[in-house]
Amino acid sequence: MGESNGPLANLDEWDEDVLRRYQSPAEGRRFRDYERTAKPQVREFYRLNHRYQTVDFVRGKQRQYTRLDRATMGVWEAIELLNTLVDDSDPDIDLPQIEHLLQTAEAIRADGRPRWFILTGLIHDLGKILCLWGEPQWAVVGDTFPVGCAFSDKIVFAEFFAENPDAADPRYNSLHGMYQPHCGIEALTMSWGHDEYLYHVVRDFLPPPALAMIRYHSCYPIHHEGAYEHLLQPEDRDLLAWVRDFNRYDLYTKRDERMDVQALQPFYKDLIAEYFPDQLRW
Ligand SMILES: [Fe+2]
Ligand SMILES: [Fe+2]
Repeated sequence: MGESNGPLANLDEWDEDVLRRYQSPAEGRRFRDYERTAKPQVREFYRLNHRYQTVDFVRGKQRQYTRLDRATMGVWEAIELLNTLVDDSDPDIDLPQIEHLLQTAEAIRADGRPRWFILTGLIHDLGKILCLWGEPQWAVVGDTFPVGCAFSDKIVFAEFFAENPDAADPRYNSLHGMYQPHCGIEALTMSWGHDEYLYHVVRDFLPPPALAMIRYHSCYPIHHEGAYEHLLQPEDRDLLAWVRDFNRYDLYTKRDERMDVQALQPFYKDLIAEYFPDQLRW
């Protein structure tokens, strides 16, 4: 994934930037400061994302990918495939993808959380293999948000939605747009990215809180900023509590401490086998 696929130097640059926005778990929202000081490539990344994530675009990607006819491979194989993504980045700055997955999973494990939760930490970013299939960065990473209704001003760089055709489309630009009030988070069509894709790959194999963590972990407008209350239903509160619970591990376990992949592999291969068949459709 070279620069031709987007303005970021690599996919991790988005995650690192989210960490900059939410510097510590206790810290509140500091959007305006954050936007003022964002790097030009991050700003450009969001400009593209907000311009092109429309209802039509998302439906097209759903048709293209949710049939799961791209590949057949096991979960560990997918981890190794994702790991090839950092080949062109600076090893002094960027850890291989597998280390972020293992750091997240190991932090969850160290806290004595359930085995499905640990497994969710291990796999949560595997949808980023979309990049290997030629998807641009803005259709793989970045904060996600519902499409098909008015874009919230609680979405980062919301001003860029002025260039999104849906913002001028009466079917999609009212408060509720194509949704019923309080339809619930699962009825929403989210902007396309690694969250939604992986959800479709693993949906038959994991419990509902794990699926919510996977499907909504990049939806900072909802899980961190409290946007779109008018579309949520009471049951969503529990799911979102799980997503926030997961998010701490995703955001705040990125360290320089290296993971011993060889030593950890047997534990995680057993864990994968507990929930998943040998081969999955991607
Ligand atoms: Fe992610
Ligand atoms: Fe992550």
